[in-house]
Amino acid sequence: MHVINWNSKFNTGIEDIDMQHKALVEIFQTMEDNYGDENFGPTILFMKDYAEIHFATEEKLMIETQFPLYDAHRKLHDEFINVTEEYAERFLEGNVSSKEVTDFLFTWIVNHIVGTDAKTLVPHLLKIKEKNEPQSL
Ligand SMILES: [Fe+2]
Ligand SMILES: [Fe+2]
Repeated sequence: MHVINWNSKFNTGIEDIDMQHKALVEIFQTMEDNYGDENFGPTILFMKDYAEIHFATEEKLMIETQFPLYDAHRKLHDEFINVTEEYAERFLEGNVSSKEVTDFLFTWIVNHIVGTDAKTLVPHLLKIKEKNEPQSL
């Protein structure tokens, strides 16, 4: 069983993003709780739906602040939605296991938040925020 322990590496300092990341982590832990039972399939779709909301928040900020790595970051988000959607279908058909789904989600969520969001997008947003003080994002 995977447990995502929220620690300082996950904190971006941007309230909306942190709140949504925490929600993604919570949904992931709910999936782990529903591992292998009939609630697991619907939770994959719930994860996909919430990720869409979260990605829209980030992408809006990227566009507003002219983030130079927008295309690459957007591509990662789109891929996540496609794979998650596919897993939801394959799970219903019995063609993918809870383990495969949670292995993928665990690795993706941790790498994306800690590696991609925190290391590339957030420093850019904080730089812009600082420049525009006292206006906030
Ligand atoms: Fe994110
Ligand atoms: Fe992201």
